[in-house]
Amino acid sequence: MVESIRKLLENNEHWVNEMIAEDPEYFSRRNDNQTPSFLWIGCSDNKFQPNEVTGTDAGELVVHRNIANLVVQADMNVLSVIGYAVEILKVRHVIICGHYGCNGVRTAMQTSDHGFLDNWLRAVRELQGYYWNDLKMLKGEERENKLVELNVREQVYNLGKTSIIQNAWKKSNHPYLHGWVHDPNTGRILSQTGMIHSDMSLKEVCKFETGTI
Ligand code: CO
Repeated sequence: MVESIRKLLENNEHWVNEMIAEDPEYFSRRNDNQTPSFLWIGCSDNKFQPNEVTGTDAGELVVHRNIANLVVQADMNVLSVIGYAVEILKVRHVIICGHYGCNGVRTAMQTSDHGFLDNWLRAVRELQGYYWNDLKMLKGEERENKLVELNVREQVYNLGKTSIIQNAWKKSNHPYLHGWVHDPNTGRILSQTGMIHSDMSLKEVCKFETGTI
């Protein structure tokens, strides 16, 4: 165990030396690069990195990740990141990106006890209950994928209803909100919501408007 963690620090040393050998200015340039234009709210267990799938540099995205890419109204962590990105950095776009094969969503669909984690995933579980009449027609992976998509739409709605986004929209029509799903099997990102920049367009993803129950 000690050896394996030591390996990470050795790798870091090699990486630093390689980067400097290639470009002596690499670190100084990375540190004073442009202001980010995007906030990315993604899932902790996605095996692909946001910069990797969007072809962006680390400095272009502000990244926040949690299990099942949730925007929970009482989560000071996510609200602080959204506030920082929108009010201080003035990002033009906020992306919520879920992914197929999400362990968080899969866990929320199971009835077994997962201890403390069940508190966090309750919102996903309740969303499944809300759409159950539709979801029960689907089986296995198809049902899971559908809930991943519905969850992204729900989180975009939650995001749009935060005081931070509401206040930003009173001043201008920025930032634009986007709900995406990343498919790890194809590498592709699939849009779920289009661009949302007002309460009117937010209404289109609200489950009370679109729901079947
Ligand atoms: Co996930």
